[in-house]
Amino acid sequence: MFIRLENVYYTYNLHMPFETKALKNINLDIKKGEFIGLIGHTGCGKTTLIQHFNGLLTPTSGKVYVEEMDISKKGIDLKLIRQKVGLVFQYPENQIFEETIFQEIAFGPKKLGLPKDEIEKRVREALKMVDLDYNLYAERSPFTLSGGEMRRVALASILSIRPKMLILDEPTANLDPQGRNKILSEIKAIHDNFGITVVLVSHNMEKVAEMVDRLLVMNKGEIIMDGPPREIFAKRANDLLKVGLGLPQVTQCMYELKIRGKDLYTGVLNVNEAEKEILNNIKKLNSQLKKYERL
Ligand SMILES: Nc1ncnc2c1ncn2[C@@H]1O[C@H](COP(=O)(O)OP(=O)(O)O)[C@@H](O)[C@H]1O
Ligand SMILES: [Mg+2]
Repeated sequence: MFIRLENVYYTYNLHMPFETKALKNINLDIKKGEFIGLIGHTGCGKTTLIQHFNGLLTPTSGKVYVEEMDISKKGIDLKLIRQKVGLVFQYPENQIFEETIFQEIAFGPKKLGLPKDEIEKRVREALKMVDLDYNLYAERSPFTLSGGEMRRVALASILSIRPKMLILDEPTANLDPQGRNKILSEIKAIHDNFGITVVLVSHNMEKVAEMVDRLLVMNKGEIIMDGPPREIFAKRANDLLKVGLGLPQVTQCMYELKIRGKDLYTGVLNVNEAEKEILNNIKKLNSQLKKYERL
């Protein structure tokens, strides 16, 4: 197991009149190589939860293990934990401060005390992973970039540390559709090509569901669903709508057909899967249609 949370509770401003119970009894195992989507409304505790994965927050009660190490134990090297578990904050461009993109991405490797040629190698590798050309970008100021490019540089500055796990807190917030698709496809490629464990945080089910192997759905500080997106859409579509979390458009469409009495499987993630499901059931649907016409 890469990360394990046991009975984790977290309360902000504990014992103060305005305390907030942000996490309630979280039990979670994350295996190496998984690609996880963490979904939930704003304020449900997503950011609080992921900050437990690398020791930025320590549970009010309960335990967090990274590679079997209890990370709240005294003497634990949190720097090492944060190298393993790289966290890209929401709006990471706000934390860009170096004069050139090279310097920005070299910051982490430099702090690790790596030699100069290794630092350059890491910068080249990280820029490649976010599909930015070294020769065109290395000496540019990060502040001359578009919003999407800036975010990719921020991602590269975490990748240059070569984390085993990458957590991205709402990486597409405030990007236009083009910038959003670009960064999502890079994240997918980083997972698929380098075997890095990924947790992708989002409040938007569309897109994320199609990319990930496993969805964690949070509501009011709790994980209320955990499983492959198809399974969740097949079995829990109604519960998702009840808590006000949308389904992807195409899943929503299948779900509405189902509640109109069409016997269809709602665990579909894209138009191809919906088409297949409808074609496979065309005979059955046709006879339903004929009955309807006779009425
Ligand atoms: N630094 C903080 N101090 C006090 N309360 C906080 C703090 N950060 C978050 N909260 C509260 O904790 C709850 C969970 O917040 P958060 O983890 O940021 O949710 P999400 O990332 O899902 O939007 C919310 O009620 C939020 O207001
Ligand atoms: Mg958040």
